[in-house]
Amino acid sequence: MPATPPPRTFPKTFNVKSFGCQMNVYDGERMAELLTAEGMRAADESEAADLVVLNTCHIREKATEKVYSDIGRIVKDGREAGAVPLIAVAGCVAQAEGEEIMARAPSVRVVVGPQAYHRLPVMVAEAAAGGRATETDMPAEAKFAALPKRRKVGASAFLTVQEGCDKFCTYCVVPYTRGAELSRPHADLVSEARALVEGGAREITLLGQNVNAWSGEDGKGRRVGLAGLAEELAKIEQLARIRYTTSHPADMDDALIEAHGLNPKLMPFLHLPVQSGSDRVLKAMNRSHTAEGYLRILERVRAARPDIALSGDFIVGFPGETEAEFEATLQIIAEARYAQAFSFKFSARPGTPAATMDGQIAAEVMDERLQRLIAALQRDSLAFNRGSVGKRCEVLVERKGRHPGQWLGKSPWLQSVHFTGDVALGDLVEVDLVEAGPNSLGGQLVGRAAG
Ligand code: SAH
Ligand code: SF4
Ligand code: F3S
Repeated sequence: MPATPPPRTFPKTFNVKSFGCQMNVYDGERMAELLTAEGMRAADESEAADLVVLNTCHIREKATEKVYSDIGRIVKDGREAGAVPLIAVAGCVAQAEGEEIMARAPSVRVVVGPQAYHRLPVMVAEAAAGGRATETDMPAEAKFAALPKRRKVGASAFLTVQEGCDKFCTYCVVPYTRGAELSRPHADLVSEARALVEGGAREITLLGQNVNAWSGEDGKGRRVGLAGLAEELAKIEQLARIRYTTSHPADMDDALIEAHGLNPKLMPFLHLPVQSGSDRVLKAMNRSHTAEGYLRILERVRAARPDIALSGDFIVGFPGETEAEFEATLQIIAEARYAQAFSFKFSARPGTPAATMDGQIAAEVMDERLQRLIAALQRDSLAFNRGSVGKRCEVLVERKGRHPGQWLGKSPWLQSVHFTGDVALGDLVEVDLVEAGPNSLGGQLVGRAAG
């Protein structure tokens, strides 16, 4: 890519595009708030932004490569339109590749890691003046204190409570891109949650790479875990729903399991990735749990909250995975009966131990296993959704549907529900679930919920 001349003026409009996990979505929202506080404006869909922030994901090779193809397209479109925007790369690719990004894509003028994005406005100013700026330090505490107060948000909002990961699963880049586990202070989270509710949120999803590793001191100086935090947040009257993601089996403590039976605002949904059903593979992944240990946790969660919807993540084709080991994954799926799940082909990530392990699996084998895994998961999510037909439940209205008068919302079990009726965004309504597909349900509006 040839070098691009610097833009002539300080950007007035911006576009933040987030890829990857929900924590990136949260970071993207905070970056947009920062830029707005600096007097910039989010570009309309139809207009070309002066500043494009690509908030990137490094988890699999495809995700990383997407950054470079996106940059190429932005530069090409900009040249055709007569002005190339200022391009900033944020997120996990920024952290992992740093200045190398600028060597490979010289149009990029700002590279900012996930723990340094509170400095984005200063860095953009430097770049607008003709320079380049890179910041990939990890002083995690500094960031949150420097961000502006939360304002207007949607009915369902994200709140990052915990960052980083100390687990070092052998396939995963997150401990390198997001650093060590860090819990944000209890008081800061309570006040941010209040601000989100004042800004319109009825549901808050607590986020962390290992969200259930969160711990902190409550207002009375007692050390509490995620269950204690959820209990405190449940006191916010206008907040109707609390969710959390992503959890690690090793940090699934008794209090959190019990909270599913005790805290009525804690939604009956748990995303608890297992990755594989084979103990040999789990060990090679450095997952610290066995298939049996994992199933025992599910049993206890189901005892606390019998209707809980379970979700998981799976990797097929981890180095050395045999057909029998893959079948053990199909077996654990059959036993766990997931309501939904995500499945991925192993992607060798530079710098991780698994990338250089013996027995890398051929692409065709991974493809074939992934298809079988997806078929099993689809079977179970359809069964779960069919099991909901006939139930009456609360739905939080989150979006307009494609058809006139149609709305989309979420059931307590995180299913997408579509229905028609006279409601508004952010309403909590009662709906009868009448039809089911693998990815969504059709409902009939009964009326406004009490909450
Ligand atoms: N902290 C969470 C999420 C991590 S990333 C957790 O521990 O579960 C989300 C998912 O991406 C992981 O659960 C895993 O299934 C998948 N993943 C991570 N690294 C991967 C890799 N190198 N190849 C394929 N999938 C991967
Ligand atoms: Fe990655 Fe494992 Fe940490 Fe999850 S627990 S972020 S998969 S290293
Ligand atoms: Fe991707 Fe970073 Fe999240 S690698 S999954 S954006 S923590």
